[in-house]
Amino acid sequence: MRSAFPTYYSTILDPFADMVGEAIRYLNQLKPPQSPSASGTPGYLGNDPTGPHYGNVTKAQLGENMASVAEVLQDAADLFRGMPNWNHPLVMPNVIPPANTAAIISAMMTQVFSPNIIEGEYSWDVERTEMETSAILADLIGWPTDEAGGLFTFGGSGCYFYGIKYALTSCLGMDSRCNGIRTDAKVLVSQQGHYCKQNSTDWTGLGMNNYIEIDTDDATNAMDFNHLEEVVRSFHFSGTPIAAIVCTMGTTDAFAVDPIDKVRTLVDELYPLEKHPDGVGRPLIYADAVIGWSWLTFKGYDFAANPLGFAPEVLCEIKKNYEAISKVVYADAIGCDFHKTGWATYNCSVVMVRSLHKFQELLSRPGSAYLQARTCYNPGLYTLEVSRSGSYSMAAWATLKFMGYF
Ligand SMILES: Cc1ncc(COP(=O)(O)O)c(C=O)c1O
Repeated sequence: MRSAFPTYYSTILDPFADMVGEAIRYLNQLKPPQSPSASGTPGYLGNDPTGPHYGNVTKAQLGENMASVAEVLQDAADLFRGMPNWNHPLVMPNVIPPANTAAIISAMMTQVFSPNIIEGEYSWDVERTEMETSAILADLIGWPTDEAGGLFTFGGSGCYFYGIKYALTSCLGMDSRCNGIRTDAKVLVSQQGHYCKQNSTDWTGLGMNNYIEIDTDDATNAMDFNHLEEVVRSFHFSGTPIAAIVCTMGTTDAFAVDPIDKVRTLVDELYPLEKHPDGVGRPLIYADAVIGWSWLTFKGYDFAANPLGFAPEVLCEIKKNYEAISKVVYADAIGCDFHKTGWATYNCSVVMVRSLHKFQELLSRPGSAYLQARTCYNPGLYTLEVSRSGSYSMAAWATLKFMGYF
């Protein structure tokens, strides 16, 4: 049995590293040759379009005996046969980039020693990858790095879910965490905003009838601010709580960017206080920037000198996108997906909050019988997840370290 695990002591005979190499070699065999005359389907792995083969899955049974690792790895590699090869220049569907080498290997490292970034003792300095990545992002956003924070979670939908939970607690108070959501607070989001509006209003218990779709502009696909203003003023007048206004900073298809700066001005005008005298909090602005966030890395780019030599028409688009996305600074919370425009492994998402202190205050729980706060960073006290794989934050951190600005 012991050979089924990497050894617990150092030895040059530990076959684990070789096995990893072997597994990657199996995968590599699925890539087609580069020759332009090669037949088949170059954008797909294994030149086998017959699958996927789901026919006999319910007949699967536990094997009689242990198998060899090599056999299992070969079978595992075969499961990729027929899949699109995201690395191939002919393949580019729906924001799925190839993952960069530093991210893949760093994320794999976390599988060896299983750091849990729930608290310091379980993950030691691997927790720093969450803190440092968040600080780098806060700096790119333009938030004070010692006030902001970020939590890695399960995809852009996880970020959205965190954003709506945060908004509901901020709006309806901590009581809503004990007694449940009993008020029909509203979530306003553009008609072209991602369908996560359904997932998160449904799963938080707010109810899908409580998200309100705002019209979008025919020319830009962005939220029609006049319509939003009309809806916000009408709810404000009737005393109906608005938990969140979601601004999509790069929609999935059209890359439309909502006017978040105007939304901030409107919220500040109508809701000058954190809390109304009746105890209801002001709307929280959540930026769904899972696609758009990475344009922030053009912060500091000298567009006049253009040191990277972008062609004029490309430079102009980059500048336009950067300027639109940089307004994300007006959000209270932001979702960022590294597995989309960050060239990292699947999945790899962080929800950023402008005030980590406020988030902690609103969402902390008393703790657990088996976890103690042994270091100053204990996200397990307020995250949804208990087992928090270090692979997400490690992949994002490795990507930022590796790529830098240029
Ligand atoms: C704008 C937008 N928001 C949210 C999501 C959900 O993100 P994820 O698929 O990582 O859960 C997507 C996914 O495509 C998206 O495009």
